[in-house]
Amino acid sequence: MEISAMELQFLVIEFSFSFSLPFQPITFYHQHSFPSKPHIQSYTKKEKMISLINFVSLVFLMLIGIIIFKIVLPPLNFPRNIPTIPFYVIFLPSITKMDQLQLYELYLKEPLEKYGAVKLFFGARWNILIGRPEYLSEIFKKEDIFAKSGNQKKIPYSAIAAYTGDNIISAHGEVWKKYRSIMTTGLQQFDDSSFEENAKLFVKLIRTKLSDTDEKVLEQNGVPVIPLIQRLALDNISQTLLGFNFGTLSNDSVPLHEHLIRIKRQIFQPLFLTFPFLDLLKLPQRKKAFSDIEEFRNILVDRVQTQLIENYKFEQTKYVSSDLIRAYTNKTIDYKQLTDNIVIMLVAGHENPQLLLTSLLYFLAKHKDTWQNLIWNEVKDVTDMKFLPNLPQLNSFILETARIYPPLNIIINRCTSKKCRLGNDIIIPKNTYVGYHNYNASHDKTHWGNTADDFEPRRWGDDIESIMKNWRHHKNNSSLSSFHGGKRACLGEKLALSEMRITICELLKQFEITVAPGWEDRVTPAGPLCPAGLHLNFTEREVKI
Ligand code: HEM
Repeated sequence: MEISAMELQFLVIEFSFSFSLPFQPITFYHQHSFPSKPHIQSYTKKEKMISLINFVSLVFLMLIGIIIFKIVLPPLNFPRNIPTIPFYVIFLPSITKMDQLQLYELYLKEPLEKYGAVKLFFGARWNILIGRPEYLSEIFKKEDIFAKSGNQKKIPYSAIAAYTGDNIISAHGEVWKKYRSIMTTGLQQFDDSSFEENAKLFVKLIRTKLSDTDEKVLEQNGVPVIPLIQRLALDNISQTLLGFNFGTLSNDSVPLHEHLIRIKRQIFQPLFLTFPFLDLLKLPQRKKAFSDIEEFRNILVDRVQTQLIENYKFEQTKYVSSDLIRAYTNKTIDYKQLTDNIVIMLVAGHENPQLLLTSLLYFLAKHKDTWQNLIWNEVKDVTDMKFLPNLPQLNSFILETARIYPPLNIIINRCTSKKCRLGNDIIIPKNTYVGYHNYNASHDKTHWGNTADDFEPRRWGDDIESIMKNWRHHKNNSSLSSFHGGKRACLGEKLALSEMRITICELLKQFEITVAPGWEDRVTPAGPLCPAGLHLNFTEREVKI
């Protein structure tokens, strides 16, 4: 909920008018009516004080009333022919144990399926959230009307905006084109040789966890895998795109990693995520968060520059970071733009693969006797990772996981540049935030049939050509937008898929994976989608390759 400075000013002026009356009689009595001056004076002071308190309380109450009104009801110019999701729905995961899929089933599924779009309170404002693939295609195609408007525009004063700034994912128009022309090559042609080495280190890390944990505890609780996956994803992305090694797989304590964990904790505090305008208050703890973020950004860029320049990698390699530094040296972009884009490479580059890999390990464990075995049989003799993209079972399994649990579930970062129409009859006013619900689109029964909610990798086809053709088909008609599609399609898809294949192959060669019996099967409460706090058991394979 946001009240602009102008609105506030207006409210204060209006209230001063409405509440000026109680002051006037007091002044009047004071000057003319009462004989005893001292008595009147003390009475008047008291009265004045009471009136002032009344006035302040009334202003306060009315402000609260207006804020509540703005939270509870969508703006009056929002389309009336789509349902409104009750405002409190989005707060439920914070106050109950409900996860985002339970919330979806209860409140979003039916209206999204029936109307294709709903009004949703999210990120302290009312938005239009769309789920029907045809509507997704429309907003993806009409880039100028449904213009990207990331946090740097939506909530420029927030910690999250300070972290990622104005980058290739959130930028629009000419600035976005410039970023895209600088970064596409480096994101599409990369050297992924470190993935295999890192997957081996990942296996080693799991073994260390296994040997360090009490056997009984292990049996019940297994290994909490998400922190380990994060370490793998950070090393993979820093080595492939940024030209340096975070080094978290071989060291338990890396200052830059600890710094990253600290700022993530500060950025993702639920209160500030739900009400980002609280960052305007500049509370001492938030000031610290902002300075930590700034420091992290500077250290990161410094590390990238030093590594690339000192090791003469800068001119010789195809790292996306070299291209960015070159663009900065040529003055095509400024230092802030360089920093924003290096940071987003790190952020999107490790967080999104981390989510997908978590879901992949979960589904491998859940389908141990079927898909895990099938894939193990497929990969156990592979010695050259370049053959992995040709394997039907492995690839259809990865694609199905990305469909069933799209890692970035709800994305609300488009803002209408003018009053417009969505579909035949949804009229959306100018300056409205419009977002898409990936899970709804990738579970749409008109595109996926009655088995849309089932985990069924076979739906993709039997041979790799059909599987990949199907993948492109569903991306093109937006019934699968886990990696977006079209003009603003994810530039890291190829890299992420390669990372997934190599890691799975290496892991399955070493272990049989099961879900730890003590782990509660649920997904994340909100935002990114994957099994929450996943714990797995790893058993050494008897037949090793
Ligand atoms: C499993 C992993 C990943 C998933 C599910 C994913 C998903 C997405 C999605 C949904 C978008 C569109 C966002 C929007 O509509 O605003 C996107 C854009 C993008 N992603 Fe990814 N991503 C993944 C991995 C990566 C990686 C590893 C990188 C490398 C840094 C990357 C770089 C990008 C870029 C640069 C864009 C913006 C493209 C543009 O607007 O021109 N992604 N990604």
